[in-house]
Amino acid sequence: MKISAGLGIAAGAAALLCASLTVHAAKGPDIARGKQLHNQSCLSCHNPSVYTRPNHKVRSLAALRTQVAGCRQAVGVRWSPAERADVIDYLNRTFYHFGEGSGHHG
Ligand code: HEC
Repeated sequence: MKISAGLGIAAGAAALLCASLTVHAAKGPDIARGKQLHNQSCLSCHNPSVYTRPNHKVRSLAALRTQVAGCRQAVGVRWSPAERADVIDYLNRTFYHFGEGSGHHG
């Protein structure tokens, strides 16, 4: 009896979570999710100051994509194409500010 009550609460929470994810997906690129994914996986070797150092390496959106792909493989984290786009969007909008509009995969 106790167990099934607990499952009911868990299912309710999962339904709520799904509802909020759907709202986010409808908005397109999700910078908050990109930041969250980045902070989970990308701070073990460098902190964000590497993106803004005076001689930073990445000089275009294409270079940013390539660099993130390389670093992501170094971490070994698996992200969906949408999650990769969110991380790249987060980095671009927060640190690099390359041309707006490109790089959005929906
Ligand atoms: C295994 C260690 C390691 C991890 C983990 C790592 N990076 Fe890196 N990253 C590096 C190194 C080393 C450099 C600097 C390369 C250089 O200076 O030539 C770098 C540089 C970068 C740059 C370019 C900075 C510039 O100069 O403009 C970006 C962007 C970047 N990393 C993104 C990420 C992202 C996103 C993640 C998470 C998926 C990540 N990194 C995780 C090692 C790592």
